[in-house]
Amino acid sequence: MEIFERSQIGNMDLRNRLAMAPMGTNGLTDIDCGYGRRLIDFYEARAKGGLGMIMTGAAVVNTELEGGISHFLPRLDSPAYMGRLSELADALHYHDCKLVLQLTCGFGRVNFLENNPIQPIGPSENPCFLDPSVTTRPLSVEEIQQYVVSYATAVGMADIAGVDAIGIHGYGGYLVDQFMSSLWNRREDEYGGDLDGRMRFAMELIGASRAAAPNMPLIFKFTPDHYLEGGRTLEEGIEVAKRLEAAGVDALHVDAGCYETWNRVIPSMYDQAGPTLELVKTIKDIVNIPVIGHGKLGDPALAKKVIEEGIADYICLGRPVLADPEWPNKVKSGKAADIKPCISCNDACVGRGYDMKYLGCTVNAQTGMENTYTLTPAQSKKKVLIIGGGPGGMEAARVAAQRGFDVTLWEKANELGGKLAIASVPSFKGDLVPFFDYMKREMDKPNITIELGKEATPQNIEAFAADEVIIATGSKFSPPPIPGIDGNNVFSSAQLFADKPDTGKHVIVIGAGLCGSEAAAELAVNDGKKVTLVEMADQVVPEGTNLPTMIGIQTLLAQGQVDIRLNTTVVEIKADGIVVEKAGEREMIAGDSVIMATGYVADPSLRNATESRVASCKAIGDCLKPGKFIGAIWGGFNAARVIN
Ligand SMILES: Cc1cc2nc3c(=O)[nH]c(=O)nc-3n(C[C@H](O)[C@H](O)[C@H](O)COP(=O)(O)OP(=O)(O)OC[C@H]3O[C@@H](n4cnc5c(N)ncnc54)[C@H](O)[C@@H]3O)c2cc1C
Ligand SMILES: Cc1cc2nc3c(=O)[nH]c(=O)nc-3n(C[C@H](O)[C@H](O)[C@H](O)COP(=O)(O)O)c2cc1C
Ligand code: SF4
Repeated sequence: MEIFERSQIGNMDLRNRLAMAPMGTNGLTDIDCGYGRRLIDFYEARAKGGLGMIMTGAAVVNTELEGGISHFLPRLDSPAYMGRLSELADALHYHDCKLVLQLTCGFGRVNFLENNPIQPIGPSENPCFLDPSVTTRPLSVEEIQQYVVSYATAVGMADIAGVDAIGIHGYGGYLVDQFMSSLWNRREDEYGGDLDGRMRFAMELIGASRAAAPNMPLIFKFTPDHYLEGGRTLEEGIEVAKRLEAAGVDALHVDAGCYETWNRVIPSMYDQAGPTLELVKTIKDIVNIPVIGHGKLGDPALAKKVIEEGIADYICLGRPVLADPEWPNKVKSGKAADIKPCISCNDACVGRGYDMKYLGCTVNAQTGMENTYTLTPAQSKKKVLIIGGGPGGMEAARVAAQRGFDVTLWEKANELGGKLAIASVPSFKGDLVPFFDYMKREMDKPNITIELGKEATPQNIEAFAADEVIIATGSKFSPPPIPGIDGNNVFSSAQLFADKPDTGKHVIVIGAGLCGSEAAAELAVNDGKKVTLVEMADQVVPEGTNLPTMIGIQTLLAQGQVDIRLNTTVVEIKADGIVVEKAGEREMIAGDSVIMATGYVADPSLRNATESRVASCKAIGDCLKPGKFIGAIWGGFNAARVIN
């Protein structure tokens, strides 16, 4: 098999073996949760980019039985949504791209609880994932049958609207999967008990969909292994696959994990590429229908291998096509080096969803803004001076040059990258390297002059006489005033990665935010050191960190047997360790060195001293507010986008 060959799923003819993975498109629908122009533009950009089929994020078929997130997703519970759905189908078809509409019954125990007046539902009474003190209400048989009718009605409407196939949302510990698993389904009626009973709901959805649209291919996304104690194991997963095939589904889409193991479902930066492939191959070996695989397959060489070695029949690309919609065209035309790689940060795609913000992408500020953040050609050849070669400065340079401005970038260090260079060092952050390499290649493109080892001052900026100045000089390390902080056994997390100092056998890391936790994990897992991680707050990694990243880093810390001390304040740093205080009690923790990961502060001083001297001066990224790549990259993109 090859990626770029025609093939079929059921009666659906496909131009290649590449699909866009289903991804929730929070914030992109119309106000009534219909497929509006903005969402159509989002999908059309990916169809134009060369995908053979686009699998939409889950659309709900019934909004009466559950609330929460079901009231915000796209929906197909009324004919009012059909017209715009048909616009989406047409838009994709003009690019020879097929539309696979994923339909869901809902979320059950993993639903959002905030501002949700409707009690979550499920097969049985179960603690909710987000707050175990809230329990689900078991659905009655009549309600289950109401779901089946809603599902079939939606399939019928999709068929008329021009949808090419239905994706059945039966994976990941969502409602249908909750019914299928004995961990969450303890019903004693015909919808519970043995696997036949637990799969009855899924089987009825398949049967009713077939009846509603007999020629419509059905693709069932399921989870052969939850990787959770008490959840489904592969033995049952294989049986589920066989039964789904026997029930007549046209393809199986293989997932792994559930909310408790969410980095299996959406792998984090810390997880390896293609983590689900072994599972995919196992399923492919036991069924005769096409099998679809996914999960960090954005490296074109790996994607090709998956198809050429017959590990899967189709590849789903999720985040890689949020980062670069043109992934398929670039691979097909031999321009893989031009692909902007996803860094698996999950900050803009997954994380923003929990904040009810629109779906975006850290490395691609145009995602979700396809026809709003367009780049217009420069009207005149203005001189643009960018100070700082971190991710913010490089993105501003990339975009300004692409628009046709005459760009100069000054970087005081002898290499590009800023904190991106440091962040890429830990062994488990290899996903940053292809992106960093891509950005460096972009700096070699026409219209950009890079001057390394050049420190900007208000005077030399003024003398350069640029039309536009963009300051992207980053934040400043700000160690807390703890006695002993100036000792020669104390290093910042940036120094740890940049200078690789001798830290001895037992290292104490102060601050369990992402930087500190990563430093602790690298020292323990990669360097084999004994590590103590000390944090004032009551948890590792701040509230609001996206779930796959949170689980990913916690897994690494556990693997490295890092000794985590929460609610613990550092009182003094000594030559042989630190003195801490917890609940009024003091303790000495011995250690050979101390890594400070206590944060950075904004430093807009260059902007402040420069803006009155030049025609136009903007600051972006960490120098305004210490944050993450998303702030720097989106800041750089938009500063260059809005130059007149
Ligand atoms: C150890 C570590 C790990 C991190 N990991 C992650 C992560 O995994 N994900 C994430 O999203 N964020 C991470 N961050 C945060 C992220 O690196 C920053 O948010 C981001 O790099 C900010 O980009 P920036 O372009 O604004 O500034 P910087 O990356 O700090 O770049 C500023 C650049 O300006 C240059 N400069 C400064 N003054 C001058 C001057 N006067 N003249 C010329 N040049 C100058 C500096 O040398 C530097 O190269 C991490 C940070 C650290 C310290
Ligand atoms: C923001 C986001 C939303 C997602 N929403 C869905 C969804 O609605 N339905 C679904 O089946 N999978 C969903 N997924 C999972 C993806 O389909 C895919 O399995 C996962 O992202 C791994 O593939 P990738 O590494 O190519 O991104 C979502 C993933 C992301 C990142
Ligand atoms: S936000 Fe991060 S993980 Fe999500 S698509 Fe963009 S780069 Fe990838």
